[in-house]
Amino acid sequence: RQVQRQIIQSTWSSLRTRTHRAVRRMGGGAKANATAHAQWAQSSGAVVRQAIVDTVKIALSDPKVKSVVICGQNGNFCGGADIKEFGGEMTGPPLIPMIHAIEAANKPMVAAIEGNALGGGLELALGCHYRIAHSKARLGLPEVTLGLLPAAGGSQRLPRLIGVPDALDLITTGRIVTAAEALRLGIVDQVTEHNTVDAAVKFALSVAGQPLDARRISTFPCPRPPDSDALFEEAMRKVRGSARGAMAPVACVQAVRAAATLPYERGMEREKELMATLFTSGQARALQYVFFAQRAVGRWSMPSGAGWDTSKPRPVNKAAVIGLGTMGRGITVALAQTGLSVVAIETQEKQLMEAKQAVTSMLERGAKRRGAAPALDRISYSRNIQAVADVDLVIEAVFEDMALKLEVFRQLSAFCKPGTLLCTNTSALDVDELARGTPNPELVVGMHFFAPAHVMKLLEVVYGKRSSPQAVATAMQLGKKMGKASVAVGNCRGFVGNRMLRLYVEQAFFLLEEGATPELVDGALEEFGFPMGVFRMSDLSGLDVGWRTRKAAGQAQPGEASGQSARIRNGSRYSPIGDLVCEQGRFGQKTGRGWYQYDKPGSRVARSDPWLHSFLEQYRARHGLVARSIDRQEVLERCLYALVNEGFRILEDGIAAGPEDIDVIYVFGYGWPGHRGGPMFYASTVGLPKVLERLEHYHQAHPDVPDLQPCGLLRRLVASGSPPVHRWREVIKKLHSQL
Ligand code: NAI
Repeated sequence: RQVQRQIIQSTWSSLRTRTHRAVRRMGGGAKANATAHAQWAQSSGAVVRQAIVDTVKIALSDPKVKSVVICGQNGNFCGGADIKEFGGEMTGPPLIPMIHAIEAANKPMVAAIEGNALGGGLELALGCHYRIAHSKARLGLPEVTLGLLPAAGGSQRLPRLIGVPDALDLITTGRIVTAAEALRLGIVDQVTEHNTVDAAVKFALSVAGQPLDARRISTFPCPRPPDSDALFEEAMRKVRGSARGAMAPVACVQAVRAAATLPYERGMEREKELMATLFTSGQARALQYVFFAQRAVGRWSMPSGAGWDTSKPRPVNKAAVIGLGTMGRGITVALAQTGLSVVAIETQEKQLMEAKQAVTSMLERGAKRRGAAPALDRISYSRNIQAVADVDLVIEAVFEDMALKLEVFRQLSAFCKPGTLLCTNTSALDVDELARGTPNPELVVGMHFFAPAHVMKLLEVVYGKRSSPQAVATAMQLGKKMGKASVAVGNCRGFVGNRMLRLYVEQAFFLLEEGATPELVDGALEEFGFPMGVFRMSDLSGLDVGWRTRKAAGQAQPGEASGQSARIRNGSRYSPIGDLVCEQGRFGQKTGRGWYQYDKPGSRVARSDPWLHSFLEQYRARHGLVARSIDRQEVLERCLYALVNEGFRILEDGIAAGPEDIDVIYVFGYGWPGHRGGPMFYASTVGLPKVLERLEHYHQAHPDVPDLQPCGLLRRLVASGSPPVHRWREVIKKLHSQL
């Protein structure tokens, strides 16, 4: 018997409409279509949609076919739209009528969900009459994370299927759920541990011929809780609070509200209108840029030309963490959750006991969230550094003190087996100096995590002059395994993130001297989209951290000097304001006082502090500074363009390979709003000539701040016609080849 088997596979998805087994068991049959198979196997979104439309048509018109099972190939149902299609003209059959045709079919359409059913993939499954999922499947509508909403009926069908509160949660956050949760929510009808397609075929056979009227989700009335107005208002308030200016989460609430209040057809019109607004907003473009930038940074390279494609990582099964303070604890958790055996070493007995407790509870909380067993038995604790003898990689996280770190590296070199990779989690110290202190400098790299290390997604992998490509490849691979956005960067003070941050914080201090308040500066930055402005952030992380660094660098000098020299260091403007605040014992939230005041030490709610305002007035008076009126625009331009300018210098110096590296670092490590695409992308949207002109303006106004002088690369990019951000690498390459 001839059996129809049409396989549709693509970059958009890996979907095939598999009718053969159902057909065979139902006594049906159709002609094989080998040509279609070959063509679709290499195809893109438009071809896949065309193939689904055609295949469904054939299946529905063939009287011998009683039910249809739609499944993916290679264990994956469908990961959603091909984002590359978004930019250009859509070709091929559109998704919405295709899903409507599936839903309107008069034969049971069953989705067999293995792997991912995400975005358009889940919308397609929601068009089916039944959904059978494998227990390991993941389902979700993550469009919001790309600045969009589920606009192929997802925002209208999901609330009708599972109710408004759960649909709001999934659609506004883009949260991906397991098959078990999908079953509990009512998204899928059955979960199987066995072969999903077999289960779906069996199921499709069992429902063949049954009426389908009650299975078409678009015809369901949307269950509306009695207090739905209050529910939507609360959802909108919550989303506006956390969206920080991003439009997509707000549009998602509006779309779900349309599902709850309008008939299906009108709800679909609203979904389309909202989607059109998002498409043209620029935010979706920024978020999609971030999505691709994450992929681009995985293709890292070093100035030598070595990179991801030529360097093979070493296997890492067992790792050690040295120093179990704030960072060491988080790193231990991250490594254990990745499945590695971890030796956690801390010299102080009390710290070790506390760390053990903290790590255990972090692992237990994480395991509970994931519904898995905590990886407690993967960790062994020790006070003796000799316990590193059989590990493949060490991450050092002791105090930020070069002499101490050199001593730890000396001991590690003596006790580790040959070839063990030695990584430092320093925030700013010189990786080359550390490497020079070891017999095998090629094995030394920086692995700069961000606090809390088991939560924050960013990892800067810092290569020194002597780091081997294999060492970098190993650290990058480990970062990837830990689920981090890992970015390979060169060695310089503060690497990429902290080097740029210094300029941003410095401008904020200068603005206080000139008449701004912490409230004004933070307000402008938070309105821009940062979760916290400079001063609120500084209160959270502790003012003493920066103070200690400035003291070590000889910048912060005890007591208040007067006169012009008090505000000059090495010939450049310097603001001692932060040092003076620290001298008052005001270290931020932990002391209950900082740039703001708090109800008690450790409290998180910042309130304006009259003491700080009068301190600023007295400070200005002492230094003969006259407060002027400063607006939010100036705050943004001074803080952000100073940061962007340093980003250009970093590119010019070859510390970061491209703008994407800097943007990923800022979005994933420094709270830069993703819908603005990272600092370098943002500069390109503002327009490089404008950034250059404003920097020139501020440099003229503040000639004692050399960092405001526009960077040569920025000038060069403007001179070459301000190419779009994806073409900057060419200009940088040319610049480096001329040097
Ligand atoms: P921390 O002060 O909380 O912890 C350091 C720990 O190292 C302490 O428990 C100390 O007892 C232990 N220690 C000191 N000497 C040791 C030795 N010889 N052997 C074993 N343990 C030893 O410091 P934190 O904040 O965890 O920072 C650690 C490193 O991570 C520093 O280099 C810091 O610059 C860097 N870092 C810190 C970040 C943060 O947000 N705190 C962020 C990124 C990097």
